[in-house]
Amino acid sequence: MPAVSFQNVSKTYQSARGTFKALDGVSFDIEPGEFFGLLGPNGAGKTTLISILAGLTQPSGGKVTVNGHDVQADYPSARRQLGVVPQELVFDPFFNVRETLRLQSGYFGIRHNDAWIDELLEGLGLADKAQANMRQLSGGMKRRVLVAQALVHRPPVIVLDEPTAGVDVELRQTLWQFVSRLNREGSTVLLTTHYLEEAEALCGRIAMLKQGRVVALEKTSELLRRASSNVLRFKTDQSLPDDLLVHARVTGRVVQLPAHSALEVEQLLARVRESGVVAEDIEIRKPDLEDVFIDVMGGAAQAAQAEARS
Ligand SMILES: Nc1ncnc2c1ncn2[C@@H]1O[C@H](COP(=O)(O)OP(=O)(O)OP(=O)(O)O)[C@@H](O)[C@H]1O
Ligand SMILES: [Mg+2]
Repeated sequence: MPAVSFQNVSKTYQSARGTFKALDGVSFDIEPGEFFGLLGPNGAGKTTLISILAGLTQPSGGKVTVNGHDVQADYPSARRQLGVVPQELVFDPFFNVRETLRLQSGYFGIRHNDAWIDELLEGLGLADKAQANMRQLSGGMKRRVLVAQALVHRPPVIVLDEPTAGVDVELRQTLWQFVSRLNREGSTVLLTTHYLEEAEALCGRIAMLKQGRVVALEKTSELLRRASSNVLRFKTDQSLPDDLLVHARVTGRVVQLPAHSALEVEQLLARVRESGVVAEDIEIRKPDLEDVFIDVMGGAAQAAQAEARS
């Protein structure tokens, strides 16, 4: 039985300006023990899908189960299986950290949870903040408390919606160490993030969403293998000609171009020279998840345009 199963999930929002399809027939399963990544650009529908999974939003169609429990028909059982770290920081300013975690334990009918609460505080680097009032915490610390809050009832399925947004390097490492440990001990993890190097390092399998549809669903290693074999990287002060620009990933002075063979690398360099662009610090590297992401999203955009034209 899958840990999480999305079956043809759709969501249409109604507004004064008409209807908007945020999710369009999303189907995939997450197996027990997986560390699963859900990626996609802003507005792709990631948070909407997670809200439906958490029972906070009603789908317009389809079905979601958690360890076999239907999120709609059997909400209490499904909810108990889930620990959800929301994207938005929401908390009660009147409680301190330990009180917040005790209160959350109470919602799940768990008393005498202090041993586990201590372990959470320790694991998430919050031990010295146990008595601090929630409103006295920095943004990153509040996010850590949200993670602890999601885990108080030892849920078998952990859902993290951009848990590292605005979080410093040290905290990120603490968080990943802790979540990876829980994953090794058997927890299933569903993660959304815009830090693709994080997803590449952590997730065994990845789904990419674009405009409410799944446009890629594969093992991370397969996604990387499918990418171009090389990336040509150089710096320049000049702008590229259009025929190169359409394939390029440009960050300030840094230009990166996918190449499928040594010959293609040579051809690209020749085209660069021919166009009068002066390239410095030239190097060739292996593709990463960001290259795949850009490729998949670009390809999906072209497919959507073709569909719209036909
Ligand atoms: N309550 C709502 N009413 C109307 N539209 C909504 C509502 N919630 C979300 N949307 C729209 O649905 C789409 C998907 O939003 P969602 O928050 O799921 O995206 P996301 O993939 O989580 O993006 P991000 O990476 O920015 O967090 C967006 O176009 C958003 O504007
Ligand atoms: Mg979101």
